[in-house]
Amino acid sequence: MVAVAGIRGAHPSQFWLREEKPADVVALDPVTKVWGVYGHAESLQVLNAPATFSSEVQRKVAVDERLNVANLLQMDGAPHTRLRKMVSRVFTPKSVTGLEPRIVELTGELLDRVAGHDKFDMVEDLAYPLPLIVIAELLGVPGEDRPLFQQWVDMMFRDHKEISLAETEEGKAPQANLGGAAEVLRYVSEHVAERRVRPRDDLLTRLVETEVDGERLTDAEVVNFGFVLLLSGYVTTTMLLGNAVLCLDAFPEWQARTRADRSLIPGVIEESLRMLPPFTAVSRVTTEDVELGGQHIPADEMVMVWLAAANRDERVFRDPHTFDPARDPNHHLSFGRGIHFCLGAPLARAEGRIALNMLLDRFPHLRTDPEDGPTFRDIAIMTGVDRLPLLITPEY
Ligand code: HEM
Repeated sequence: MVAVAGIRGAHPSQFWLREEKPADVVALDPVTKVWGVYGHAESLQVLNAPATFSSEVQRKVAVDERLNVANLLQMDGAPHTRLRKMVSRVFTPKSVTGLEPRIVELTGELLDRVAGHDKFDMVEDLAYPLPLIVIAELLGVPGEDRPLFQQWVDMMFRDHKEISLAETEEGKAPQANLGGAAEVLRYVSEHVAERRVRPRDDLLTRLVETEVDGERLTDAEVVNFGFVLLLSGYVTTTMLLGNAVLCLDAFPEWQARTRADRSLIPGVIEESLRMLPPFTAVSRVTTEDVELGGQHIPADEMVMVWLAAANRDERVFRDPHTFDPARDPNHHLSFGRGIHFCLGAPLARAEGRIALNMLLDRFPHLRTDPEDGPTFRDIAIMTGVDRLPLLITPEY
């Protein structure tokens, strides 16, 4: 078990980046042949220059052809602007506000199931089902199909390997393991086809019907957007919920203050996002030679922007390893920056705020189990627990 900044069991991979190599803001990993960007300013430089640092990583990493169509996360330039404009019409901060009563209801139902117990697993009982049900309901996926979704998403995240360009034949890393992706795509396409015939009051129908400058989204675009929502919005939010509770457990003085003053909750969420970012890194490919952090990066190289490291850059964050929800400003990069800034940030923040408030309301005593500690997912590009047993009885 590794203790990182007071958080038991935390995955160490993203922390050593700055703690052990504070001088390297940009460095080439000699093993993977991928450039790592660790500084905050340098990360912003990359994220704010999409023409030089392209999101079309399929140039270097083999990706299933079906996932290449209209994958917002891996598009650049005009096609990205067009698609983002179209989906933003439907996926607005206002549409998220409309979801809040339902998020409250769902959280209440999930917490009802553990009422009367001495302990529960925060991940299994709340942090995992809540975002899944929210995205599934948003898209219009029937409740009975949720276990299928869960299974496919699990498959996609299991066995995720670190990207490495070492010893590849055509200079491309092997395809990322997205075992469940084909199932998700097939499933969502069936629903999209059905919405064309029988419209409903759901996001898929609105995506199918939305029109910008007389143009509509194709089926493939709607399907892949649904896929991207699931890929980027589900497990990340699970992790945010678990990580925020972990932080309140690790820093009991902040738990006490937050219980007494709920206006601190947004700060708790932002600070746990900074310290334990669900996506620890995002990838880009250089389109031209570029100078970054004193290094010369040639064109056509793979670059990983380590958001987790940038979030602890002492040039930007005072006492970067201290959990301080009152930090203001808190310019963490956990939702990315620039043209790819997370479209789901308002939804993730709303789920975090509601879930944390309700947990504190329901359980006056909430702490990790000293006999049965949390376990972290073993994936370098993500930070989050996959098990978080919580005791909800008073400490005797
Ligand atoms: C705590 C939870 C979340 C975190 C930490 C997170 C993080 C991120 C990050 C870092 C990016 C930028 C990727 C890049 O620059 O390559 C991103 C993009 C995106 N996120 Fe999130 N996300 C979260 C929740 C959500 C949710 C709930 C949704 C939707 C339901 C969502 C939908 C998206 C979409 C569609 C994009 C692509 C935007 C674009 O490429 O233009 N995310 N997210």
